Amino acid sequence: MSKRNIVLVGFMGTGKTVTGRVLAKQTGMKLIDMDSIIAERQNQTIPEIFAQKGEPAFRAMERELTRELSQQNGLIISTGGGIVLNPDNIADFEKTGLVVCLKASPETIFQRLEKDTTRPLLSGDKKKQIEGLLAQRKPLYDAIKHSVHTDGLSDEQTAAPILKLYALES
Ligand code: S3P
Repeated sequence: MSKRNIVLVGFMGTGKTVTGRVLAKQTGMKLIDMDSIIAERQNQTIPEIFAQKGEPAFRAMERELTRELSQQNGLIISTGGGIVLNPDNIADFEKTGLVVCLKASPETIFQRLEKDTTRPLLSGDKKKQIEGLLAQRKPLYDAIKHSVHTDGLSDEQTAAPILKLYALES
């Protein structure tokens, strides 16, 4: 039987990449970071893609990569925070994987991203932008069946319930 994927979604700064690393280490499954693949294939950083090609072009790249990855199995997939903007992405990932949303309070996200310069959607007043985007997207993240609230948890503590769920569902 083919192994289902584990797909991590959630707002920027909720720990998708680090949790993905822990899960990959603990399961031996291959880790795929969608932003890294897009940047590699375009030979540009994410801010360069946003600035030169625009956000809609980036969303189309995400959509295409989602189609590709959701046809594979045995992967830990760390998505970009905006993957939920197109419900087709989540529907595709649900077909072959366990989709889990990582959550964190706006304060925690701000603390984690205060010095970050790699998120084009947080290039102004970060606090305001985080609060605004989180409020806008809340219904989309809340619609995901499984979630882990990461405030105060270590990377291992975040990974543990996901592994448990994966073992139960597989
Ligand atoms: C985005 C999140 C980023 C990246 C891009 C847009 C978003 O990924 O895909 O900057 O719209 O939330 P991370 O969630 O890994 O930061």
